[in-house]
Amino acid sequence: MDLFKQIDFSNIPEHIAVIMDGNGRWAEQQGHERLYGHNYGVESVREVLKGAKELKVKYLTLYAFSTENWSRPKEEVEGLMDLLIRTIAGEVDELNSKGIRLMTIGDTEGLPEGCRNELKRAIEITSHNTETSLILALNYSARWEILNATKKIAEKVIKGEIDLNSIDADIFDDALTTAEIPDPELLIRTSGEHRVSNFLLWQIAYSEFYFTDVLWPDFKKEDLFKAVLDYQSRERRFGLVSAQITK
Ligand code: IPE
Ligand code: IPE
Ligand code: MG
Repeated sequence: MDLFKQIDFSNIPEHIAVIMDGNGRWAEQQGHERLYGHNYGVESVREVLKGAKELKVKYLTLYAFSTENWSRPKEEVEGLMDLLIRTIAGEVDELNSKGIRLMTIGDTEGLPEGCRNELKRAIEITSHNTETSLILALNYSARWEILNATKKIAEKVIKGEIDLNSIDADIFDDALTTAEIPDPELLIRTSGEHRVSNFLLWQIAYSEFYFTDVLWPDFKKEDLFKAVLDYQSRERRFGLVSAQITK
């Protein structure tokens, strides 16, 4: 049965966030180095982006490199940075022609210069696109983001630009690297791990979680559709009781 045809287009998540996990295990299962899995994972990114666009998902956030990932073996980190540069440089025209806007979240200042330049260029080129925004979480850590937002707000209070008592969720939202991006309705994690690993801690307060054993390089469009169908079967109550939810 065609999964796409089962999807309810009146209930598509506006924002889907994905913890792309399992590249290393996928490669090792096939007797290859971990980087082989990362390379292959790029194909899944293309697929999922295509699927997201078919579903008219407005924002797709992919957790590509966490702040903790710097502690991996040097050659894996270098290989990942290299892959990032090559992929962005190679895909930017394709993204642009499809109306996709590239954005990043995280502490991108901490990325190597080559990555920063390639990202800056791709972000500029695609900045006017309105189809789907592809948001890469790079050198991302939710705790860093929350601390950073807290410092930004504290500075404004000290300077007298805002009143302490006026700090609310909207002000906090605006100080995060996801300012302007709505919270994800759906968070997907691949590879059978059931944890959040320092991803979007503030923003996932009411997200629906979807876990799958599929390793990221095996995750294809159909897997995205499965996740969205599962999401559509949930009742999001936001603390209310079922009878209060008008469908
Ligand atoms: C996810 O795959 C990609 C990154 C974290 C960059 P992993 O590299 O974590 O793969 P596993 O979890 O070790 O299999
Ligand atoms: C989370 O995956 C980070 C990314 C997908 C970039 P990890 O593989 O780094 O997370 P842990 O180590 O399983 O928590
Ligand atoms: Mg992993």
